[in-house]
Amino acid sequence: MELMPISAPSSSFAELSDERVQRAVLRSLHSFAESLGNAIDAKDHCTCLHSEEVAIISQAIGMQLDLSKLETRLLHIAGHLHDIGKIGVPDAILKKSGALTDDEYAEIKRHPQLGAEIVAPVMGAVGNGEIVKVILHHHERFDGRGYPDGLKMYDIPLGARIIAVADSFSAMLQNRPYRAAMTYEDAVTEIVQCAGTQFDPEIVTAFFEIKDNVRELLQTIRGFDVLI
Ligand SMILES: [Fe+2]
Ligand SMILES: [Fe+2]
Ligand SMILES: [Fe+2]
Repeated sequence: MELMPISAPSSSFAELSDERVQRAVLRSLHSFAESLGNAIDAKDHCTCLHSEEVAIISQAIGMQLDLSKLETRLLHIAGHLHDIGKIGVPDAILKKSGALTDDEYAEIKRHPQLGAEIVAPVMGAVGNGEIVKVILHHHERFDGRGYPDGLKMYDIPLGARIIAVADSFSAMLQNRPYRAAMTYEDAVTEIVQCAGTQFDPEIVTAFFEIKDNVRELLQTIRGFDVLI
């Protein structure tokens, strides 16, 4: 599929003056995002609940960073949607258990751009297009070695820097075809060790401060599938 450039938002959601209208719109957007997130998670039993977990963890980090209520809600919605572009990546590549070829890896790396394209018509005007930007940049790295644009440090949108931590943490706690899930404490240690390279150190600090709270939240989502 030929990718279209992502158009600039035509208006700002934050400009909606009536708070009740804003809340109602947010509720609808959340339901829409949750449905799409569930759809992508259902493609693969390994990633079951991943989008839900990223939504919950990202929102919790945003609250710890004292972001506004609106910002943390938008972050939650972006968490549900962050991997929606994988809908355009063949299952044979997504579920491959062996090493990926360069071409297959290049195909997977298209998912942030694809995802931004998919949600732009609905989310482009929400929060100054922040959700679209967060989806587009959720695989950037703090040291500039990520994709799609190799953005560095604070050039990466704040929401994308937060989702990057939540995304990796959730993924580490899930079984993958090529490795078993990590223990909770090992995954926390891994996130801390990547502060300053893969992740924004301030966001890692905020995450570390709430790690016990995050554990409870994830335990609630997973039910009987107990974290170790
Ligand atoms: Fe949600
Ligand atoms: Fe992703
Ligand atoms: Fe993800």
